[in-house]
Amino acid sequence: MLLEVKQLNAGHGFLQILWDVSIQIDVGEYVCIVGPNGAGKSTTLKTIAGLIKPISGQILFKGEPIDGIGGHKVTRKGIAFTSEEMNLFTNMSVQENLLMGAYILDDKALIKRRMTYVYEFFPRLAERRSQLAGTMSGGERKMLAIGRALMSDPDLLLVDEPSFGLAPQLTTTVFESLDKLVQEGLTILLVEQNVTKTLTVTRRGYVLENGRITLKGKSSELACDPHVRKVFLGV
Ligand SMILES: Nc1ncnc2c1ncn2[C@@H]1O[C@H](COP(=O)(O)OP(=O)(O)O)[C@@H](O)[C@H]1O
Ligand SMILES: [Mg+2]
Repeated sequence: MLLEVKQLNAGHGFLQILWDVSIQIDVGEYVCIVGPNGAGKSTTLKTIAGLIKPISGQILFKGEPIDGIGGHKVTRKGIAFTSEEMNLFTNMSVQENLLMGAYILDDKALIKRRMTYVYEFFPRLAERRSQLAGTMSGGERKMLAIGRALMSDPDLLLVDEPSFGLAPQLTTTVFESLDKLVQEGLTILLVEQNVTKTLTVTRRGYVLENGRITLKGKSSELACDPHVRKVFLGV
């Protein structure tokens, strides 16, 4: 088991948001958490990423407890997190933004290899390596945000709402990139409001409502589930 979240209770300050959330992810899996706005999806990812200290419960990564160790250490253990809220450095170039993603790496040769990998993965970023991030299009910025997360050489990538603010065609492109990363062996936990699309691309999923996991299973089965169809797809 790569990631094991056991009966996690967490929130913001004194406000508890997550109640007994348990999630398990194996190496190489592509798993999603879907749920309505405000359900606690981002809170879940932030807690796994070490940005929120849980109230109780356990988070094991490669069998080792990582809850409460803090964001930097979690990144060092091999978890990268990318979300809309983690803004790029708009006055810095594409290349400089990517280097920021490698801040936990000391090995210069590894940083260079990661840079080559990201540029091969997103040729568009290579073409624009000296362009300021703030002048990139919405889709390019999304690629850069994912690229920056990939720079830390993660084993698990947490992706929060990659489709947010993107036109449908660009959303498709971003989802294709995530697909390709999974094919290349990366494990991904994806959080999305775009339930239909997400249940099509991922293999397995969890439904989060009011801070609790209400359903879990194969994405194809969740997509047919009467409750999911009623609550999320309006049918
Ligand atoms: N920094 C914060 N401080 C206080 N409450 C927060 C904070 N961030 C989110 N919340 C609250 O936590 C709940 C869950 O939010 P969130 O995890 O962002 O949901 P989702 O990502 O599923 O839309 C919401 O009620 C939200 O208002
Ligand atoms: Mg969110």
